[in-house]
Amino acid sequence: MKETQKTSALNKKDTSWSGRFNEPVAELVKKYTASIGFDYRLAPYDIQGSIAHAHMLSVQGIISVADFKAIEGGLLAILDEVNAGQFEWLLDLEDVHLNIEKRLTDKIGDAGKRLHTGRSRNDQVATDVRLWLRTVNEQVISGLKKLQLSLLDLAEAHFDTVMPGFTHLQVAQPVTFGHHLMAYVEMLKRDVARFEDCKKRINRLPLGAAALAGTSYPIDRELVAKSLGFDGVCENSLDAVSDRDFAIEFTFASSMVMMHLSRFSEELILWSSPRFAFIDIADRYCTGSSIMPQKKNPDVPELVRGKTGRVYGHLTALLTLMKGQPLAYNKDNQEDKEPLFDTADTLLVTLEIYADMMRGITVNKQNMRQAASEGYATATDLADYLAKKGMPFRDAHEVVALAVRYAVDQKVDLSDLPLAKLQEFAAEISDDVYAVLTLEGSLNSRNHIGGTAPAQVKAAIARAKSGIN
Ligand code: ARG
Repeated sequence: MKETQKTSALNKKDTSWSGRFNEPVAELVKKYTASIGFDYRLAPYDIQGSIAHAHMLSVQGIISVADFKAIEGGLLAILDEVNAGQFEWLLDLEDVHLNIEKRLTDKIGDAGKRLHTGRSRNDQVATDVRLWLRTVNEQVISGLKKLQLSLLDLAEAHFDTVMPGFTHLQVAQPVTFGHHLMAYVEMLKRDVARFEDCKKRINRLPLGAAALAGTSYPIDRELVAKSLGFDGVCENSLDAVSDRDFAIEFTFASSMVMMHLSRFSEELILWSSPRFAFIDIADRYCTGSSIMPQKKNPDVPELVRGKTGRVYGHLTALLTLMKGQPLAYNKDNQEDKEPLFDTADTLLVTLEIYADMMRGITVNKQNMRQAASEGYATATDLADYLAKKGMPFRDAHEVVALAVRYAVDQKVDLSDLPLAKLQEFAAEISDDVYAVLTLEGSLNSRNHIGGTAPAQVKAAIARAKSGIN
């Protein structure tokens, strides 16, 4: 009798809202609360997670093996539909999870309705996001390494190309272009380490937490973790469904990469401007102006600089999304996806485009050298020369400042001053000073690990290359 009543109650229900409600959700609310417009891209991971979950349910005797087989077959067929672009995503079904579950049930009947045993969309979505992000995280690491390799190629070609090194954007001391590029290789090395580290936090299984408190079914979480390639399970069910710090961490690491590339972009923009004319960026990375025929604009580096703000915005959005949430799951968390997806999309395409842009950079060695020799870039070398002859460095600094002032007045370089003139500033100076005042002399003297001497730059390139696997 009881059973009949239940069945008839279910049969009577011909609407898509649950028995708990007296009226359907308002159309606008449906649109407002749905996430299918963006979370459809989790579909392959949702299916992967569901198969692992259903398998565990069957191993544990919670559902039959026959039901598991039906679920697995149905889900794989749905995956084919998704991959072929044939799956029809319905707004009425709110999100990727409900869309797939409904389709499964339409396909295989009651077995499909058993899939959701012992889980909730809360642990399901957390699992999907982690599976998706784990893949993306690997793609980012590989993109970073490819960019490093392309920077290394350029650095290798310019291990001894002289350019002015800047502080305060003023010519400071000569460096090699290769050395300058290697600074970015170092930054990217740390970025790779950040994503490697982030993976440890991403790669934990939330499933089993169910809605928030765990489940009364005799589940085997370790088995699910193992079959999905997770390093282990999230150890607290409340934390498992509500935590998104792994996503925030990924977005932070992404922001850091963008910050590094934005700095570099700023330099590319400056160097490629006719005022500097240090480099030329291949035409395929630039655009013209619709009104000024002479213009060749460095659009790609400018956009990288601009998109950095966008990724920072996503980091702020995610941090702010979490800050007011009490445990455990709240619908707020649905808002994690768009910032996270856009962060990944922006970063991955930026890394790809950057690696190729490096291959399209040509260097105007003459202009770089000219700029280095015009800025009194070897003044420190003269002070060091005097200090090595016994003059206290502070005094040497002052003496050279006077010599530079004189040379500026005369509109000549330090190395253009005759020996007798230089000796008026310091009697210690003899004709071996000219070797010190040359750009090559300055570079070669900085011959220690981390220094700009071409021999050191070569060694740094070799070390970096051997570190990239
Ligand atoms: N679309 C939801 C999200 O992205 C899935 C979880 C829904 N859970 C719930 N209790 N309403 O977070």
